[in-house]
This record gives sequence, C-alpha cells and structure tokens, in this order.
Amino acid sequence: MNWESFPSPDALSDRAAQLLLDAIRTNPRIVLGLPTGRTPVGMYDRVVRECERAYHCFRDVTTFNLDEYVGVAPASPGSYFAFMKRHLFDRVDLDPANAHLPNGMAADPDAECIRYENEIRNAGGLELTFLGLGRNGHIGFNEPGTPFDARTRVVALTESTRHANADLFPDGHVPTHAITMGIGTILDSKRIVLLVAGSGKEDAVARLRSGEISEAFPASALWKHEDVVVLSV
Ligand code: GLP
Repeated sequence: MNWESFPSPDALSDRAAQLLLDAIRTNPRIVLGLPTGRTPVGMYDRVVRECERAYHCFRDVTTFNLDEYVGVAPASPGSYFAFMKRHLFDRVDLDPANAHLPNGMAADPDAECIRYENEIRNAGGLELTFLGLGRNGHIGFNEPGTPFDARTRVVALTESTRHANADLFPDGHVPTHAITMGIGTILDSKRIVLLVAGSGKEDAVARLRSGEISEAFPASALWKHEDVVVLSV
C-alpha cells in the first residue's frame, strides 16, 4: 500500500484528478470504478475542467459506481445517480450507455446485484477504482463485519452512516438500504486509489495505517491488494 499525504483537500484532489486523467490517457477505453461522497467532488471538478480542454476524454470510457440507495429513484436529488450526473456525467462526453450504477428501484434487488456483477465482468472487469472512506472504515457501503469475499449485494445501512449522509435527504427520509459492490468485487479491480479527507476520520486513518487486517474494519481488506494508493490529507 503506497501512502501519499497532502497539505490540503485541494492538493489531494489535484493528485486524484491527475491519476484519473493519466489512466484515461494510457487507456482511453478504461473501465473505472467510481465513488460518491464529499471527498471525490474536487477530483471530479478538476477532471471536468481538464476535459473541457481535451474534449474527448471520456468518449470510450466505461464507469461503474460503487453503490446506490435502494428505493431512491434515479431522478431524486439524493440518489447517487443524480450526484454523478451533477458532478461528472452531464459535464463530460461519457456515453450515458457506458455509465453504470446499480438500479436501486429494481423490482428484484437481489437479481439486480447479480446483473451488476455480470455487467462489470462483461465489460472486462474494473481496471482502476477510486474509493472514499467512511468514518467507521466502510468502503462503498460495506459496513464493519462484511466478509472480504462479499460480492455486490443489498445491505442495511448503519445508523452512523445514515446520519453521516442525512443532509442529502432534507425531507428526513434517509434510506435504510443500499446496493453496494462487495469487498471482493472491489478487490478484483486491477488498481485501487483510496481518497481520505473530511473530519472525523482520524481514527479510521490510524487504524488503516496500523496494518491490522480485520473484517471489523472493511478498509483493511485493501492490505490484501497489491496495487493500492492511499491519498490522505
Ligand atoms: C458514503 C459512500 C461511500 C463514501 C462515504 C464517505 O457512505 N457510500 O462510498 O466513501 O460516504 O463519504 P465522504 O466522502 O462524504 O466522507
């Protein structure tokens, strides 16, 4: 695991955007795993600015988001699909047909999880996946206790995670469940970049740095992967 520390969230976002853009330049047909949350917003802003200059950045790129809320319509402002449209999809030349998120409104959510796994596989697998870090060490929505070989599935959100994301749902109806790529799905990505910024994550960072590998701390699964970069403030 390679660690890079930055003096500010802006500096972290610069570096994250550089890694993403370099990867697209190296392989314009890359398959990316992408996160939501506050942390990657600066990265997306920088990528968009750069892609306005070099317009065809995303023409042949395929993306798979890590997760989506169950029971939240894509058009609803709190959905991760709406987040991605706002911060990236509507601002670059990514083909909407190549931008994938789990469908949180699927009539059969378990079948949707299998379909999503197959879709990733049929696209050739994830080449580079960006992750954020939850305060309790979650990655995607894989909460503490998740087996490291878990695949894409429906999960119940912990109260602390619902609380942390409540401001996206001003009506107070914070979702209780999500569909998330599993830790096993994430670990199958050839390369992984973990972005860590935001208040209240000091304990999570210290625990990750300690090198202890435990299912009680989902991000520690990343120690099992041979190509992980952690960018932290
Ligand atoms: C949510 C997302 C995670 C994200 C986490 C941290 O729970 N499902 O993928 O990493 O929030 O978010 P933030 O970057 O806002 O701290």
